[in-house]
Amino acid sequence: MIKAKPIEIFCGTGGVGKTTTASSRAIYLAKKGKKVLLITIDPSQRLKEVFGLNDQMAGNPEKVTHENIGSSTPFEFEAMLMSPSATIARMIKTSSKGELLKNPIIKTLSRPYGGMNEIMAMIEVNQRIKTQKYDTIVLDTPPGKHFIDFLEAAQKINHFFDKSFLDLFKYLGKSFEGSRTQTLSKKLIGSIVTKGVKKLLGYLDKVTGQAFVEEFIDAVSALYQNREYFLEGLELEERLKIQSFSNWFLVTSVDQQKITQAGELKDQAIHFMHYDNYLIINKTLQQQIEQWNPNSELTKSLKESMSYRERKIKEFSKENFSRILEFEEILSDSPTEHVLKLSESWENTSI
Ligand SMILES: Nc1ncnc2c1ncn2[C@@H]1O[C@H](COP(=O)(O)OP(=O)(O)OP(=O)(O)O)[C@@H](O)[C@H]1O
Ligand SMILES: [Mg+2]
Repeated sequence: MIKAKPIEIFCGTGGVGKTTTASSRAIYLAKKGKKVLLITIDPSQRLKEVFGLNDQMAGNPEKVTHENIGSSTPFEFEAMLMSPSATIARMIKTSSKGELLKNPIIKTLSRPYGGMNEIMAMIEVNQRIKTQKYDTIVLDTPPGKHFIDFLEAAQKINHFFDKSFLDLFKYLGKSFEGSRTQTLSKKLIGSIVTKGVKKLLGYLDKVTGQAFVEEFIDAVSALYQNREYFLEGLELEERLKIQSFSNWFLVTSVDQQKITQAGELKDQAIHFMHYDNYLIINKTLQQQIEQWNPNSELTKSLKESMSYRERKIKEFSKENFSRILEFEEILSDSPTEHVLKLSESWENTSI
């Protein structure tokens, strides 16, 4: 059995089974009595479908039990759909929170795919760790490119808080301490902030008008006032590289192209991970092939070529990954059934 870690991340390219294997891991650990939170930062609907999660509850953990999905073995864990706007709403603590959440820039940024999804996910995960309510947080990530965006969130934070913004923040921070909300005089800002920011504000004023510039300043200052959340998110990213803190599962399916893509994804992501990561080859047919007794020449050669294909893929995987887990193709068309059956496979993983 693979030892549970505080954070377990499931990543991979599109449609290989990230959500399914992550869910199966959550169920497996929950059955073992661990306190588990499963977070999906994948905006696809799969988790909702499998566990019957409620859209209205996005951003908040919901209880999932064996009864929800018709399993006879009792278990219980929490699952949550990531919602950037809920994270932002929790982050902003100032008295003018209501106003700020109506700020069009904050609203736009916090929409799904609005530009802050990945950073917000990092912040959300960090906040959930801090509650100390969970033994393990299982993370279901979006496919490929968005997963890399998630990993690069900290770098984006760094860019966001770059020198010229910091000047602006510094000024705003000072002016916003203690009593709040005062419209900033552009003239005053102009006299303090760097040339770069001045140019930006001047440009924005010209193309968008005074109202937008004020909204922009309000949005920026709200983010600045909550900068510790961003900076802690950055620290979390560093901790994800610690072996005792995280398990990384790169998911792929039995398909030469998918496995090649998994190798490429690993190369892109490796400096965010540690080296002790796992490759999950999902949907293998190995056992079914072995149990098959073909009775004609044609089916015999079909069996041979199928097992050749599986063998080749595994040999190729071994060249790129040191720890490989194999999960069977579940012969059912019910995603719930896939999750439940795969949850049993974790028991046999002996690495
Ligand atoms: N081992 C398996 N056996 C049979 N079906 C499976 C298995 N693993 C996953 N599936 C099915 O394959 C489909 C894709 O799985 P899933 O949604 O978990 O992939 P994903 O990698 O999360 O996709 P996306 O990139 O869209 O988020 C689902 O219908 C799921 O039920
Ligand atoms: Mg998914």
